[in-house]
Amino acid sequence: MNFLELKPLTAKQLTAAVELDHLCFGGLWTKSGYERELDSPNSQLLILEGRKQNPPLTTPTPNPSKEGNRSRMAGRREKDLTSSITSVPASPLLLGLGCFWSILEEAHITILAVHPDWRHQGLGQLLLYALLRNATKCQLERATLEVKPSNQAALSIYRKFGFIEAGRRRNYYQDTGEDALILWRSGLQTPEFTATLTNFYQQLQPRLAHWNLQLSF
Ligand SMILES: CC(C)(COP(=O)(O)OP(=O)(O)OC[C@H]1O[C@@H](n2cnc3c(N)ncnc32)[C@H](O)[C@@H]1OP(=O)(O)O)[C@@H](O)C(=O)NCCC(=O)NCCS
Repeated sequence: MNFLELKPLTAKQLTAAVELDHLCFGGLWTKSGYERELDSPNSQLLILEGRKQNPPLTTPTPNPSKEGNRSRMAGRREKDLTSSITSVPASPLLLGLGCFWSILEEAHITILAVHPDWRHQGLGQLLLYALLRNATKCQLERATLEVKPSNQAALSIYRKFGFIEAGRRRNYYQDTGEDALILWRSGLQTPEFTATLTNFYQQLQPRLAHWNLQLSF
C-alpha cells in the first residue's frame, strides 16, 4: 500500500462502509444508517482508504520491420510514451472507519473500526487521533464512548489518549451480555491535550513510514 488517505465518507464509499461495518461489528449500522450520518450536520464520519500505486506502464519496444512506417507511427508512439510515464492507481480499499456525533460540547464517538487484515499497525490510533483532532477544531470540550471491558485493543488505544472510566452500563451488549464501560476524556481545549495530539502524531510518523504508508489529509 503506497498511499493512505483520511477523509470524510461520501456516498461513493457507502457500500464499502457497510461491508466493513459487517466485518468489524457484525452489522452495527445499515446502509440507510450510514446515509443518515451523511445527512446529519452533527455527525463526522471519517474513512481511511488505502491505495496502491502500480508500477508505470512500459513503453512497447519498437519493431525494426516496421521502421519504414516511422513517420506514420510517430504520433502513435508519442501517445504510448505519454502513457508510459503515467502510473495507474489501483482501486482504493477501505481500511477503517471512525465517527463522532457533536452533542452540546461533547464528542460522542460512535464508531472506530479497522479492517481485520489491517489491524495492529497503528491505524486504529490514527483514526482516533483524527476524530479527536476534528473534535477540538469543532471547539468540543469532552469526548465519550462505550466499550466492552474485553476489548483490550480498543481500551489500549483510548487510554493512550487519556480516556478514563467513568461508569458502566449493565448487560449493555446484546451479543455477549457484557457490560459497557463508559469512558470520558475531558480537557480537549487545553494546551495539555494539544500537546498530546502533537506528540502522538510525531510518534506515529516513523511507524507509518515503516509500513510504507503516506498520508494525505
Ligand atoms: C479496536 C480496533 C479499531 C483497533 O484497531 P488497530 O488498527 O488494530 O489498532 P492499533 O494498531 O492502532 O492499536 C492497537 C493497540 O492495542 C494493543 N492491543 C492489541 N490487542 C491487545 C490486547 N489483547 N491486549 C492489550 N493490548 C492490545 C496493541 O498492542 C496496540 O497498541 P500498541 O500500538 O501500543 O502496540 C480494531 O481492533 C477493530 O476494528 N475492532 C473491531 C471494532 C471495535 O471493537 N471497535 C472499538 C469499538 S469501542
